[in-house]
Amino acid sequence: MIERTRVPGPLPGELTLRHPGPADHARLQVALAEWWDGLGGAAGALQRQLLVPRLFVQHFADTSFLVERPDRTLHAFLIGFLSQTDPATAYIHFVGVCPEGRGDGVGSALYDRFFAAARAAGRSQVRCITSSNNRNSLAYHRRMGFRLEPGDRTDDEGVPVHEDYDGPGLDRVSFVREL
Ligand SMILES: CC(C)(COP(=O)(O)OP(=O)(O)OC[C@H]1O[C@@H](n2cnc3c(N)ncnc32)[C@H](O)[C@@H]1OP(=O)(O)O)[C@@H](O)C(=O)NCCC(=O)NCCS
Repeated sequence: MIERTRVPGPLPGELTLRHPGPADHARLQVALAEWWDGLGGAAGALQRQLLVPRLFVQHFADTSFLVERPDRTLHAFLIGFLSQTDPATAYIHFVGVCPEGRGDGVGSALYDRFFAAARAAGRSQVRCITSSNNRNSLAYHRRMGFRLEPGDRTDDEGVPVHEDYDGPGLDRVSFVREL
């Protein structure tokens, strides 16, 4: 199915968008610990932080975005990249919107910008994964036009899950969206 092409709209309020740099790494680490509504407890927070080492803001900055408020505090971010291995694919690694900023279209604005950047680079699909227990992320990605890829089991709500996808006990749900 070909998805409708959404043109990136303006960000709400006085929010501004730019690419991140190494100086942003420390506050991204704070956001990764604090913006996931306690998902996975302290172990979950550490796992997320370790999934975004500094290299992402050093070597994947051109396809990553950061949203700031007028006082330059962090409001939202997206970490993404173009697959080196598959020239058709772009990949969204992490997205986060601060808890008080959700439901205002910031997450979709970030995705639309990433989709536009991926299209401009000749990519025809976007992939991402999420934890099977992150129900908000599942709902959001479906709303953003992603489809769930078949897994090796379905959970009690019918969601296809890839068991041990990222290692023992690290089950994931896999999404793809055509551009
Ligand atoms: C998931 C997240 C990025 C969404 O950001 P957001 O700015 O609130 O999303 P938007 O306001 O742009 O919403 C886009 C669409 O998704 C829907 N949506 C967003 N979160 C949803 C949820 N939890 N349940 C159902 N629908 C949801 C919105 O209703 C909207 O649909 P609409 O276009 O019909 O109005 C944000 O909730 C977040 O940062 N969560 C914590 C971190 C996380 O789980 N990240 C994803 C995994 S890496």
